[in-house]
Amino acid sequence: MSARLLGKTALITGASRGIGLAIAEAFAREGANLALNARDPVKLQETADALAAAHGVRVTAHACDVTDRDAMQRMVQNVEAEGNIDVLVNNAGVHKARPFLEYTFEDFRDVLETNVYGVLHVTQFVLPAMIARKHGRVINLASTAGKGGTRNQSAYNASKHAVVGLTRCLALEMSAHNVLVNAICPWVVDTDMATGFISEHAKNLGIDVEQATKNFLSMVPIKRFIRPEEVANLAVFLASDESSYVNGQSWAVDGGYSMI
Ligand SMILES: NC(=O)c1ccc[n+]([C@@H]2O[C@H](COP(=O)([O-])OP(=O)(O)OC[C@H]3O[C@@H](n4cnc5c(N)ncnc54)[C@H](OP(=O)(O)O)[C@@H]3O)[C@@H](O)[C@H]2O)c1
Repeated sequence: MSARLLGKTALITGASRGIGLAIAEAFAREGANLALNARDPVKLQETADALAAAHGVRVTAHACDVTDRDAMQRMVQNVEAEGNIDVLVNNAGVHKARPFLEYTFEDFRDVLETNVYGVLHVTQFVLPAMIARKHGRVINLASTAGKGGTRNQSAYNASKHAVVGLTRCLALEMSAHNVLVNAICPWVVDTDMATGFISEHAKNLGIDVEQATKNFLSMVPIKRFIRPEEVANLAVFLASDESSYVNGQSWAVDGGYSMI
């Protein structure tokens, strides 16, 4: 085991699968203790048990919904009762792809509730102790959708633009307290979420999933989707002492998608 995060504790939301799970695995491999969050309690506990057994770190499971502000306050209190939170990864997110005029208000609001207000709730409860200790890292999962437009997913892009904006403002406010705030902006990562939104895009365009997949791959210089661990590698750097002068940035992990 290398030990770039030895002695640190990270709270990761949306950690039961996909990118959140890859970040949890990478952090555990680097020696971090983990507090994991997602909604499905059975899947989350299985994940926590497997990571603890594989890496010999302390892993606790906190099954609750990031949109529930009171639950987020209790979750952070419970994690802090066991020790300090050094790193917060705001990863939980949802995606609904619809043409703008076909979003119901409830669809649009659900995306913002999780992707924006979820980040607000957790971060507001985690920051006070980081400020008091003058030490902390916040890593927000945004997206290339937080830096530009995409057809038929305006709710998602609006939510991720909000995360990028929040990251910049928080970095400014937190710098004096030695709390560094950065975002990661992946293009399409091979997870359940991507399977879901590629299928929704196909339906919206009246094409099959195979064609929709080809359309996505035609947009990127590296002709494959991102592996979750390729996002996790950057998260390890941003959580580690190696990134001590990196602040307020929204880092693309996009195979060159955003440069063309
Ligand atoms: N996949 C991509 O192409 C891609 C690209 C750029 C950015 N991102 C962003 O990266 C993050 C992770 O995406 P992913 O692809 O790994 O998603 P995913 O495969 O759908 O996994 C989402 C995770 O979040 C949890 N979750 C969802 N809603 C939650 C809520 N309200 N409260 C607590 N946990 C919740 C899920 O578990 P439960 O269902 O049990 O709650 C699961 O653990 C998201 O913020 C996403 O927007 C993804």
